[in-house]
Amino acid sequence: MRATLITNIGELTTNVAAPADPCGTTTDAAVLIEGGRIAWVGAARDAERPRRPRDPLHGGMPRARGGLPARVDEVVDAGGRAVIPGFVDSHTHLVFGGDRADEFEARMSGTPYAAGGIRRTVAATRAASDDELRRRLRGLVAELHAQGTTTFEVKTGYGLTVQDEERLARLAAEVTPEVTFLGAHVVPAEYADRREDYVELVAGEMLRACAPHSRWVDVFCERGAFTPDESARILAAGIAHGLAPRVHASQLGPGEGVRIAVALGAASVDHCTYLSDEDVAALAGGGTVATLLPGVEFSTRQPYPDARRLLDAGVTVALASDCNPGSSFTSSMPLMIALAVREMRMTPAEAVWAATAGGATALRRDDVGVIAPGKRADLVLLDAPTRVHLAYRPGVPLVRTVWKDGARL
Ligand code: NIG
Ligand code: FE
Repeated sequence: MRATLITNIGELTTNVAAPADPCGTTTDAAVLIEGGRIAWVGAARDAERPRRPRDPLHGGMPRARGGLPARVDEVVDAGGRAVIPGFVDSHTHLVFGGDRADEFEARMSGTPYAAGGIRRTVAATRAASDDELRRRLRGLVAELHAQGTTTFEVKTGYGLTVQDEERLARLAAEVTPEVTFLGAHVVPAEYADRREDYVELVAGEMLRACAPHSRWVDVFCERGAFTPDESARILAAGIAHGLAPRVHASQLGPGEGVRIAVALGAASVDHCTYLSDEDVAALAGGGTVATLLPGVEFSTRQPYPDARRLLDAGVTVALASDCNPGSSFTSSMPLMIALAVREMRMTPAEAVWAATAGGATALRRDDVGVIAPGKRADLVLLDAPTRVHLAYRPGVPLVRTVWKDGARL
């Protein structure tokens, strides 16, 4: 088994919570990676013992005190820089065709965001071949990786026919196990006069076609998209097919989406820009993560959600990019951290936690988002001495090296 030791880490964010520090921060640290997993985390000085060559009489790697192997294949000197867990982006829409830069340009001059723009991407996506969609998708995945994202979710939702949703789910499953069926993104134009029929299609034949490729079911519960009753019906059908629920809610105005999400035990409710006190209390009392998507507010000129209000109430908050061609065409988790700190009253530590362990919680994953023995070796070496620099130096490419399952990307 190949062993890589990253040592001389100036600041290590483990996310192994300590009483006063949810980020589980240590300094002058070292991490050992073996076989795609974290094998050991400790002080850099404990990793500096002289190593004997591999003992030819023993098949495996001889162990020295503290769990370190007596020999490692590669030593990476972090040079006093910071290491954090790979980002976990729990909300993206990466499979689509076309471009909507014109809508963004118009919004920056005052035109409001309208969910109806989704239908333009639906038309472009339906017209694209599998290979065109795959090429675009893989390009975006490379973009995510280059910016330190090692786990990401991908939604369908730009096909909106049984055949197109099935192919989006299939293509998404080629790049991630975290595939979300979002047939309930908007009612497509051809069903405008018979939306009940579309809801039945989503909850029936479309769901059956997509469920084999998917882990999650999602609905856009919002005025202009799906009503609370329609949303509850589709989520219940998804659950009956073995999918776990997550919800888009309260993006454009207040609504019942948060209540529905918490009542169904959804892993996450996303956007959360317009919340009532009852919504906040429900989130604080339930097991549903509030995932905030500040790229949307940045790109639509809407007010940012108030993360402080949620954190002070005890709600678990995650940050995600919502990467999509309409409301947030960015794949940058460092940008989400900078926006959360500058605009949403999160501390840098809270924002980094929300972009790593928070995203993992929103995907119900306990193997990522944390640097501890046994967890996946998904790590980011920053070109910075501390994680604060992610917000302090917005727009600067601070991701120096990324490991996913122990391999350098
Ligand atoms: O999460 N809210 C709904 N869906 C996307 C927007 C998609 C689009 O405009 O194409 C979102 O913001
Ligand atoms: Fe979204």
